[in-house]
Amino acid sequence: MYNKKELLNKEIQHIDIKAHNVVKLVDSMQNMAFSARALNRAANIYNLMLEDKDCTIILTLAGSLFSAGLKKVVYDLVNNNMVDAIVSTGAIMVDQDFFEALGFKHYIGTQFIDDNKLRELNIDRIYDTYIDEDELRICDDTTAEIFNGLDPRPYSSRELLWEFGRYLESKGGPKVDDSVIYSAYKKNVPIFVPAFSDCSAGFGIVMHQHENPEKHVSFDSGKDFLELTKIKMASKETGIFMIGGGVPKNFTQDIVVAADILEENAPMHKYAVQITVADERDGALSGSTLKEASSWGKVETSYEQMVYSEATIAMPLIAGYGYHKGAWRNRDKKEFQNLFTQEKVHL
Ligand SMILES: NC(=O)c1ccc[n+]([C@@H]2O[C@H](COP(=O)([O-])OP(=O)(O)OC[C@H]3O[C@@H](n4cnc5c(N)ncnc54)[C@H](O)[C@@H]3O)[C@@H](O)[C@H]2O)c1
Repeated sequence: MYNKKELLNKEIQHIDIKAHNVVKLVDSMQNMAFSARALNRAANIYNLMLEDKDCTIILTLAGSLFSAGLKKVVYDLVNNNMVDAIVSTGAIMVDQDFFEALGFKHYIGTQFIDDNKLRELNIDRIYDTYIDEDELRICDDTTAEIFNGLDPRPYSSRELLWEFGRYLESKGGPKVDDSVIYSAYKKNVPIFVPAFSDCSAGFGIVMHQHENPEKHVSFDSGKDFLELTKIKMASKETGIFMIGGGVPKNFTQDIVVAADILEENAPMHKYAVQITVADERDGALSGSTLKEASSWGKVETSYEQMVYSEATIAMPLIAGYGYHKGAWRNRDKKEFQNLFTQEKVHL
């Protein structure tokens, strides 16, 4: 019926926020109602974060965002000093970003297809997107190759993703010009993946530890939390731009409590925006409101906004608004990777 080449023939194209000036569109949503007005307010809060010279901006990412065409949005945020640290899932950073940096693609597909046929062809499906499973295996193997080349000890995910950037450099750079891992490596923007085993790097670490039972690289999630808390403690104010929910959302909100434990009276996150499809009816973390987070002492209530939307629609509008308003041109670079340089003794 179909062959693999026919099914994997149309690449997902990442949207370019620079190419679309959305300022007038988003401004006009201010005088509408419902989700449009919420999105307008969220875009303005993100812009306040960019204008506030004391504000460290932390971006959190969950869901299958980069396979869906949002990778270049995050690349542009990193490349234009519009974000100071990222907390993500492993799927986004490794299975999707690093995967594409190795030269592999995501493809436009459909959910109206026989999944048994896809299985036979080694094609994985994410809703209406296809991935070549054989290429994903190469990505898994590459992470094992990176772990095999490191000193055996526990690492934070930030250290390891920095090593992924260094690996790409050693190979002459990424195969694409919009790699988030590589841009963050060059711009000293730290990336954290608190559940690092739960992705392609998980297969790599299983291979690496199986082959090196005595001495090996391991993931230190406690170190992740301490390092991100140190970023909070080194910042006068913080703002969080959250896409989806999951572990990255809670992890980033919790650094306020951790900083408060380590030094008294740590300020809450001053600004917070979340785009999510989850809502309060779920009774779950991904849809818990930012107002609720303030009861936990994590988020101030003056500048917070939930946007109930699927991220491929709302994120380019909010990020594009910040980009075209241009406040990033006057921001100092925070380069928080340098906070941890003394720990890079193994390099
Ligand atoms: N295809 C994949 O996404 C994939 C692949 C391999 C491994 N994993 C792993 O699964 C684990 C869980 O991933 P997760 O935290 O992303 O879980 P998730 O995909 O369930 O996302 C968490 C929540 O974020 C919100 N969300 C997700 N996508 C959204 C969107 N497009 N728009 C708006 N809101 C959205 C939803 O409320 C969702 O419940 C991670 O460790 C990840 O590495 C995921």
